Amino acid sequence: MVIERHYTACAKTILVGEHAVVYGAQAVAMPLHEMRLELSVRQESQQGNQRPLLQIELGGQPVSPQLVEAAREAARLLDIPNPGLKISGTSSILIGAGLGSSAALCVALLRALAGVYGREISDQDLARLANRLEQAFHGTPSGLDTNVVAHERVICFSRQEGAREVAVSGNWQFALIDSGERCATNVMVEHVAPWFRQAETSQRRIARFDDLATIAVRSLESGDQHGLAGVMNDASKLLSEAGAMTPLLHELRDAAIASGALATKLTGAGGGGCLLALLPEESAKDVCARLDHHLGARPLIPVTLKGISQI
Ligand code: PMV
Repeated sequence: MVIERHYTACAKTILVGEHAVVYGAQAVAMPLHEMRLELSVRQESQQGNQRPLLQIELGGQPVSPQLVEAAREAARLLDIPNPGLKISGTSSILIGAGLGSSAALCVALLRALAGVYGREISDQDLARLANRLEQAFHGTPSGLDTNVVAHERVICFSRQEGAREVAVSGNWQFALIDSGERCATNVMVEHVAPWFRQAETSQRRIARFDDLATIAVRSLESGDQHGLAGVMNDASKLLSEAGAMTPLLHELRDAAIASGALATKLTGAGGGGCLLALLPEESAKDVCARLDHHLGARPLIPVTLKGISQI
């Protein structure tokens, strides 16, 4: 009998610190539990001396050779010599929109291989190995995405300190607005690099993002909506200066603020993708309804973040 097993990984959104995290600043990110990638995995038996097969399809389509190679690399990292698996995946994660679709794929692949071949793996190791795999998709990722996806917790992350959980208080309401524009993460990382590396201002800019992340953690832990709103709006200005915003993202930001959002910022690498809006908890539904009206056909995804005592 062929047994089919299922492994999943969630999406994520970055509250503050994208790009700056590449240069050593802290960043804060949260999981999007409802938006997930799911892999269904069947183990293929080896016939005669035939090489076992690693077949992957996503959304019913065979994946690129680069992705099959990433899966082989996942097997090597877990010390699985000849994986023989048929993997088919479905995902509700918007692709290339700054929501961690590639991190989710790397984490889910490792979970699947570890699960089928009986390898114990901690969330910390999962994040570390997934980050190695992510290099196939975007150069030298900081580790932020794979950590938040592997831990499925709100985290504060830096390259030096790794991830620590943020003890969130109260309920928080957000909305994600998909601009429909797309730009690859590595392209955007290169695009904003001169702003972060400029000799006279580099340290000050990175330190400013680091401070914003500290304030974000404090605000989330004390349930201070206006504190987090200030952080997101300041980060938005800086990311705009760095060149990560697009005219359309600016338009969507104006629409969100005019509809009553407390703050917005792009989330992820930018150059398009999603805008994250923080909504006033007491009137989130009304703000969403107004914003939806402004946006027309453009997707609006409400997101609730529950404090630790509410889970
Ligand atoms: O791939 P994205 O769009 O989720 O962005 C990743 C976050 C960056 O800070 C831009 C890159 C990184 O490696 O941390």
